[in-house]
Amino acid sequence: MTSNDWRVTGDGGGVKSRRELVLEEMGLAPLWRVRAPAAAAPAIVQPEHSLAGRAAAAGVVSPPVAPRSSPTARHPSPITGTDDRRTAIMAMDWASLKARVASCTDCALHRKRTNTVFGVGGENADWLFVGEGPGAEEDAKGEPFVGPAGRLLDNMLPAIGLKRGEGVYIANCVKCRPPGNRNPEPGEALACEPFLHRQIELIRPKLIVALGKVAAANLLASDASVASMRGKVHRCRDTPLIVTYHPAYLLRNLTDKAKAWEDLCFAVRVMRDLREGAAAHT
Ligand code: URA
Repeated sequence: MTSNDWRVTGDGGGVKSRRELVLEEMGLAPLWRVRAPAAAAPAIVQPEHSLAGRAAAAGVVSPPVAPRSSPTARHPSPITGTDDRRTAIMAMDWASLKARVASCTDCALHRKRTNTVFGVGGENADWLFVGEGPGAEEDAKGEPFVGPAGRLLDNMLPAIGLKRGEGVYIANCVKCRPPGNRNPEPGEALACEPFLHRQIELIRPKLIVALGKVAAANLLASDASVASMRGKVHRCRDTPLIVTYHPAYLLRNLTDKAKAWEDLCFAVRVMRDLREGAAAHT
C-alpha cells in the first residue's frame, strides 16, 4: 500500500480549494478512504538508529528512572523526591493512576487547568497514539484530541481500521493544558512522564504512534526532526514506535498530508508484521 492508494472522496470529484479540504479534514465533509486493498509486499523497516537508541546502547539513557540526555533532561525537574514518586506511579493500577493524575499538582500546569486530560480508549488496545498536550477544548472536556486536530485524527483513524474508543488508546505527553497552547516545558513533560510510561505499561500496546515532534522527543529522548524519524521503527519502553506529523501541523501544512498517509500505511504494515510476529520489527 502506498500513499497513492489514498484519495479524497467527495461529491462530484472536482478540484477542491484548500479551505474545502481543511473543512473536509475537520469532519465536515467526506473522509479519506482506501482506494485499493493493501499490497501484499512486506514492509522494509529500518533498524533503530535514533539518538535515543544509540545513547541507550551506550548506557547513557536510562528511560525508566534516571535523568536523560533528552530535551527534558536539560532542565531540572520541578519536583522533589522524583525517584520515589516515579516508583509509586509505576506500581499503580488504572484506578489509582487516574485518581493520581486527576489530583496532580506536581508542576505549574495544574494552576491554570480546568480538567486533567488522562487519555481515552481501550485499556488493552494494540494501538497507542500519543500527542503533545491538551488544548483549550481538551482542557474544557477532559478528553484528548477533541478540537480541530482531534477531528482530523478522528478522520484518519478509520482509514487504518480504527475508531476512537475501539482498538486504540489516545493520550498525551502532558495531562494538563500548557497555557496559550505553547509546547510543554521540558520540566513539565518530565513531571508527567511517569504517568505516560505507566499508561504504556498498563495498555501494553503493540505499536505506539508518536504524533509530532514534542511527542517523539519525549518518548524517544531525541532532538531529531520528525522528517528524519519517519519511516523507521523506534522503540519506547520496549514497545515499537513510529513517528508521524501532528494533526495540528497537518492542518497548517496540507502539502505534508501525503507524508502522513504514507506514515499510516507504514504503521499498518508494521502492525501487520508485529501481529504476525515478524522478527524484523522486534
Ligand atoms: N494536541 C495534542 O497534542 N493533544 C491534544 O489532546 C489536542 C491537541
